[in-house]
Amino acid sequence: MDAVRTETAVVHDAPPSWKVRARDVSVFYGDKQALFDVSVDIAPRQVTAFIGPSGCGKSTFLRCINRMNDTIPTARVKGEILLDGASINDPRLDVVELRARVGMVFQKPNPFPKSIFENVAYGPRIHGLFRSRTELEETVTKSLKRAGLWNEVKDRLHEPGTGLSGGQQQRLCIARAIATQPEVVLMDEPCSALDPIATAIIEELIDELRSKFTIVIVTHSMQQAARVSQKTAFFHLGKLIEEGRTEDIFSKPRHKQTEDYITGKIG
Ligand SMILES: Nc1ncnc2c1ncn2[C@@H]1O[C@H](COP(=O)(O)OP(=O)(O)O)[C@@H](O)[C@H]1O
Ligand SMILES: [Mg+2]
Repeated sequence: MDAVRTETAVVHDAPPSWKVRARDVSVFYGDKQALFDVSVDIAPRQVTAFIGPSGCGKSTFLRCINRMNDTIPTARVKGEILLDGASINDPRLDVVELRARVGMVFQKPNPFPKSIFENVAYGPRIHGLFRSRTELEETVTKSLKRAGLWNEVKDRLHEPGTGLSGGQQQRLCIARAIATQPEVVLMDEPCSALDPIATAIIEELIDELRSKFTIVIVTHSMQQAARVSQKTAFFHLGKLIEEGRTEDIFSKPRHKQTEDYITGKIG
């Protein structure tokens, strides 16, 4: 916010304070309500962490942001989500294009059974984002570099992605997600299948990526949220209890439930 205020003093158009805006979002699986009236703004080019006990709706809400809940037959979503001011539920909006703009990285690294090169080339190919083989190669190289994987794979781009270590596979999935130049990257517990060293590499990478992308990360690790995020949202039993600057959430939570969670009393 300070940066925004400083900038308004010199430029007329302050950068928008949110990239994604959710209003009264509820999700039902069949008859069971899993998410209750969640309203939150996600800041651009920052890392927002969703924290809270298992089953509180973090993944459910994350999946709303690129309409991945559409792929779950029993799921029904109510409320409004705006991406840069436009509703993502607009019937004119192409959901495949939405998911190129709002990429996703999952808990378990899930490279396609294809070469390292083809894993990263996949998105640009299905979206026709290049004019020549050279341009495609440049995109793949750039994405692997940004994902901090280039040096480890540059001599074996045509070997299977599934042959990499877990941490490398997750960086490959990040390279695949950013190859379409998304605006937002959603990450659902991206380190939970990784060892501490691979986790540290991914956390460092997330910090670098926020200069280009808006990042939302679900994590069950409060330490991780504190390390990587600037904003934190705490969920409990399907409700967003509070959100704000990460340092404030951890040092002076306003709600008792948040305090109980961060001090380890619940969760
Ligand atoms: N595909 C699904 N079908 C039915 N219920 C689900 C499904 N996914 C999640 N849920 C339920 O929704 C609630 C929130 O789950 P989830 O969003 O996965 O929580 P979290 O990611 O915080 O652990 C839980 O009660 C969970 O059992
Ligand atoms: Mg989850």
